[in-house]
Amino acid sequence: MSDVEQTLSIIKPDAVERDLQNKIKDEFIKSGFTIIKEKKIHITKIEAEEFYKVHQTKPFYNDLCEYLSSGPIFVMILEKFNAILDNRELMGATDPKKADEGTIRKKYGVSIDKNSVHGSDSSENAKKEIQFFFKD
Ligand code: CDP
Ligand code: MG
Repeated sequence: MSDVEQTLSIIKPDAVERDLQNKIKDEFIKSGFTIIKEKKIHITKIEAEEFYKVHQTKPFYNDLCEYLSSGPIFVMILEKFNAILDNRELMGATDPKKADEGTIRKKYGVSIDKNSVHGSDSSENAKKEIQFFFKD
């Protein structure tokens, strides 16, 4: 059963570099999300490795961690009814080329690695990821 949920969203370096953060935040707000907390940070590669630990055996892991730590990012707690799945839908497929029209990755993503946004994929991961960036 769906409920009011919180999910972790990241506006990734490729989007911040192109100054797209306000446009992307507007997408969330227009879709009914409330931004509960947000901060602009620049994480280290070690922190990126910790955050993306689930992917440590994947061939793209090293590049992914280099990339997420390559420049400033916006991390946000988004809240809404059914937030986790609805955010994944709003983001679109991992590869912007395969993402549906109207999704954030279709509109702003550059490539499968520079795909502009991250969103938690399950309730368990949302809790972990929120805790990772917002410990208080
Ligand atoms: O972000 P999402 O949950 O849609 O995808 P993922 O499978 O959890 O992968 C995490 C991130 O790794 C993606 O968002 C991409 O930035 C990156 N990735 C990549 O660079 N090359 C791939 N073949 C797959 C993912
Ligand atoms: Mg994922």
